[in-house]
Amino acid sequence: MNSKNDFPMKEKNIIYFDNAATTLKPYRVINKINEYYEDYSANSHRGDYDISFKVDDEIDYTRENVKMFINARRKEEIIFTKNTTDSLNTIVFGFFLNYLKEGDEIILSSSEHASNILPWMILSIKKNVKIVFVDSVNEKLHIKDLINKITNKTKVISLAQITNVSGDKRDIKTICEIAHKNNILVVVDAAQSAPHMKIDVQDLDADFLAFSAHKMCGPTGVGVLYGKYELLKKMIPFTYGGGMNLNYNERSLQLAEIPYRFEAGTPNIAGIIGFGEAIDFINEIGIENIERHEKYLRKYLIKELEKIPYVKIYNKDCEGSTVIINVEGVMSGDLGLYLNTNGICVRSGKHCAKMGDNKEDTVRISLYFYNTYEEIDYLIKALKDRKSIYEFAN
Ligand code: ALA
Repeated sequence: MNSKNDFPMKEKNIIYFDNAATTLKPYRVINKINEYYEDYSANSHRGDYDISFKVDDEIDYTRENVKMFINARRKEEIIFTKNTTDSLNTIVFGFFLNYLKEGDEIILSSSEHASNILPWMILSIKKNVKIVFVDSVNEKLHIKDLINKITNKTKVISLAQITNVSGDKRDIKTICEIAHKNNILVVVDAAQSAPHMKIDVQDLDADFLAFSAHKMCGPTGVGVLYGKYELLKKMIPFTYGGGMNLNYNERSLQLAEIPYRFEAGTPNIAGIIGFGEAIDFINEIGIENIERHEKYLRKYLIKELEKIPYVKIYNKDCEGSTVIINVEGVMSGDLGLYLNTNGICVRSGKHCAKMGDNKEDTVRISLYFYNTYEEIDYLIKALKDRKSIYEFAN
């Protein structure tokens, strides 16, 4: 997949393998953001003049684009937030804080990102509800354990569709089927799946879903909160201020329509407009092509890593675009810094998932469609240079 010329960062002398943290931004997204600042820099929903109308149209375009990208029923189901974390917090404290009753149970997996554990933990303290963790086996969610842990008190299951460390891909459609038969709602953290695979919220029948623009060639500071319209009608705004009300006086507040009631204050206009362009870009490449290319890249990476006897690979059987490794006798932080001296960007540590099944720190190599086989060869060459690794680490 040749997209080398689409990204300014691809012209730098680095190899970027930290795509699960954030992705590179193509020229056209950067240009689109600049165009907003240079040509129609105004606020949204506020002005009675052409450039403000243009801003509204552009935001509306992105909302429609996101709606089609995940096949939501209506664009009102798309709420713009700051990021996945913000979306999940809004779901937890805007919806579930009222929905759950004392004694209810929430099912999570311990491999979730902190953003899909900590809000629930705070909620469990506030409401005296219980969190039940599902086990994983060889880095993969144990679906039978999940089913066994469902009780008549379970009211919500919240899971990443693909985990950010090992890249465990969960069968959300089946999980939703099981959950809904038991009157349980399902929240999906799609931060690591939306950039890499087709998501169809209607087919999955997910109740809520969250993801971020910056992990799919868009700008930082923009997230998506998808919720079924009927559920959004019951969600209470988490933030209050301009744009989210129709009217108010000392004693009453009339909320704006959905989704605006959940988007108080001036939004990240430039970011949302840039995100619309990022989705156009991804659509032109084709999300299925992205998924296929990454699958081949990952297979090749694992095949080459397996040839290095002192490299331990932790997640061969997972399907996401991450590979987590360590080099025998070398701390993951040192290995990350060693690779940095070779111009290779990876992440090391626990990757914001401190309760994961894998208790060791690891080096995470995370791929995106613009990565190449040549870049993998370069990484492998650096890892094969055992002498330099140990000299660096000691
Ligand atoms: N959630 C991002 C990661 O996994 C930051 O690196």
